[in-house]
Amino acid sequence: MTPPTPAARIADLRRQLEDANYRYYVLDEPSIPDAEYDRLLRELEALEAAHPDLVTADSPTQRVGNAPAGKFAEVRHAIPMLSLGNAFSDEEVQDFVRRIADRLKRPALRFSAEPKLDGLAISLRYEGGAFVQGATRGDGATGEDVTLNLRTIKAIPLTLRGTGWPDVLEVRGEVYMPRADFETYNEYARKHGGKVLANPRNGAAGSLRQLDPRITAQRPLAFFAYGTGLVEGGELPDSHSATLKQLRGWGFPVSSLSEVVEGVEGLLDYYRRIGEARDGLPFDIDGVVYKLDDGEGQREMGFVSRAPRWAIAHKFPAQEQMTVLESIEVNVGRTGAVTPWALMQPVHVGGVTVTRATLHNADQVARLDVRNGDTVIVRRAGDVIPEVVGMVPERRPDGTVPWRMPSACPVCGSEIVREEGEAVWRCSGELTCPAQRKETIIHFASRRAMDIEGLGERFVEDLSDLGFVQHVADLYKLTLDDLLEMKRRVDERDGTTPETVKSGKVATKWAENLIEAIDRSRRTTLERFLFGLGIQHVGESTAKALAHWFGDLQVIRRLPWPLFKQVPDIGGEVARSLGHFLDQPGNQQAIDDLLARGVVIGDTHPPSGKLRAGLELATVLVDLEIPKVTRVRAEQLASAFPSVQALLDAPVHNFVTAGLPSDAANAFATWLEDETNAQLLSRCGAALDELRAITPADVAVSAGPLDGKTVVLTGSLASMSRDEAGEKLEALGAKVAGSVSKKTHLVVAGEAAGSKLAKAQELGIEIWDEAQLLAFLVQHGSGA
Ligand code: IVH
Repeated sequence: MTPPTPAARIADLRRQLEDANYRYYVLDEPSIPDAEYDRLLRELEALEAAHPDLVTADSPTQRVGNAPAGKFAEVRHAIPMLSLGNAFSDEEVQDFVRRIADRLKRPALRFSAEPKLDGLAISLRYEGGAFVQGATRGDGATGEDVTLNLRTIKAIPLTLRGTGWPDVLEVRGEVYMPRADFETYNEYARKHGGKVLANPRNGAAGSLRQLDPRITAQRPLAFFAYGTGLVEGGELPDSHSATLKQLRGWGFPVSSLSEVVEGVEGLLDYYRRIGEARDGLPFDIDGVVYKLDDGEGQREMGFVSRAPRWAIAHKFPAQEQMTVLESIEVNVGRTGAVTPWALMQPVHVGGVTVTRATLHNADQVARLDVRNGDTVIVRRAGDVIPEVVGMVPERRPDGTVPWRMPSACPVCGSEIVREEGEAVWRCSGELTCPAQRKETIIHFASRRAMDIEGLGERFVEDLSDLGFVQHVADLYKLTLDDLLEMKRRVDERDGTTPETVKSGKVATKWAENLIEAIDRSRRTTLERFLFGLGIQHVGESTAKALAHWFGDLQVIRRLPWPLFKQVPDIGGEVARSLGHFLDQPGNQQAIDDLLARGVVIGDTHPPSGKLRAGLELATVLVDLEIPKVTRVRAEQLASAFPSVQALLDAPVHNFVTAGLPSDAANAFATWLEDETNAQLLSRCGAALDELRAITPADVAVSAGPLDGKTVVLTGSLASMSRDEAGEKLEALGAKVAGSVSKKTHLVVAGEAAGSKLAKAQELGIEIWDEAQLLAFLVQHGSGA
């Protein structure tokens, strides 16, 4: 078999891709997985790149143009794009039907009933079956040419399918953003500080109005056709429903919710059914549209001002309403996340009365700038939680002030904190906050933490709900009677009291086992204990590192946060989170309670000797993250001032005398002026002294002459392979790295060493040749 010519394969790929599009968007029956679609598209792209002469404008690869337009050209609609009259009640629908029946003198009327999509009306022009121009509705007479943007929407065919289309065909319909895509888009924007879309309609409109089609291409837009405009050189069926069917055949998505119904009853029944389905639909609709189905009737009815007399929109209750914001309160979730909520004057929206709406997070409040007393726009679409999407500046009363996140948790009073670059604020009262209670206890008891066998989520819920356990320490005062009493009350509450109990027999084995498991968990390790506290960002490996380096809960619980950065792999974020946790009196109390109820940490030991090297004032000054105080500046300060107290007492010019440039000296002085900073520094000084007193000398230093040294091997060695050399160096304590950086201590350069050697020379790093390496290895008993 001969392989197909490129032209034939290109044609075949295009057909397959168009087919997949048609099945996906029009028939709603995806035929191939996304990955396969992408593969075909890539193959087509590659073939076209190799044969540029075979590229055509209607190829699926040509949807996204890359030339941003300066501005959109105007398009005059050959046939105006009309609007629709509205009906808000059954009576208005009855009037509509009566008007038609009276004029046409026909009692039995058939209507095409369709969902009224909440998006943006557009008109698509096809010539000879090819998409040539697309425009927005504009004022109905003139719109904007958004052809390049519309081409990026895969639901819009670039060429028509089948046969029999007119020479010129204008198709009209709605571009919209599916609800799920809208939510995903906003979630991403909220997390990454992007522009949040108020609703899917704004999303669709904003996306189509992008001057750069590459941006539009990234927005999840879709399309439904609901009618036609100009038709030349051909004919369409003479009923609306048949036209929709024909459009579908030519490759346009048409809503599968469209139906032909009869008389007022048919219309109202359709309205009711779609209304019930509304919340579950994948897109927003703001009503339904009734259109007299037969063309002759339509022509006879004609138009009034700018709307047809043969069609009407029957609206649903609005999904957006205005009301007055009375206050903003915050809610603390199970994980400690603090979210702002709007409390509002009651308003009917999306079919229910709403008094609370989410504001998502503090950034969103700032972005919307909503304040107490503002008139706000509330949206409730589908089963999504009502949310505030905007406010009306003209209606702002005098004397409002911007909202600020409260500093204390409304539930437990602990500090509310936010990490740098994060949208979420959190309550730092992990162990005290009742809002976080269940989650905390479940985590504390879990297998990898205190490992209380048998204490699952269900028990924790019940123990907490019935008030037996408020804090983790309460677990350790539970008695057998408590557990049996709890079980009795749960059964009573749920109506699940077993017959045996009613007749006086109570099962107790489970409770005995649980009490025993709780008791067994009392004896634990520092690592499990720390992990069990459920401190934000302190997972198992961090807990393990803390236990290894500091060894003692009593030491750890008193450390100011910068000292935690002494542990390799603990950075500012984790250290601050630990600090916030330990700063909350409630958390400290909980630790005291646990110890008082017999929890014993069995593996307490002095801090690791490896800590000693970092126990320097200079290191702590760096770890405090003071603006402009770099390593060099910190060392200058540390050598000029013998103690933290001396630093605290010094006037600014002494920092300059110590060698700091004036901007760094001023930055440090300004930092110190803040009382909390001065206190923190003073605490760090005390902690440093204490750690120095209890940390043993680092025995490991003498064991490995290269301990703590990073070595890079480059070039080839004559006496051994690089891997062998690396192993020998590691045995002497070195860390062998692959690339040279400022952190490298030593570079061993063999024959034909290249760029790494050059870099080491540039950075002034110590360099050895092979002879020096061998001499060193021999000297340390690790000869070749
Ligand atoms: S027909 C001559 N059908 O509603 C009739 N419009 O107020 C013209 N719309 O601008 C419109 N879904 O954006 C029609 N199934 C549907 C519709 C629909 C949504 C929008 C369209 C139009 C507005 C009319």
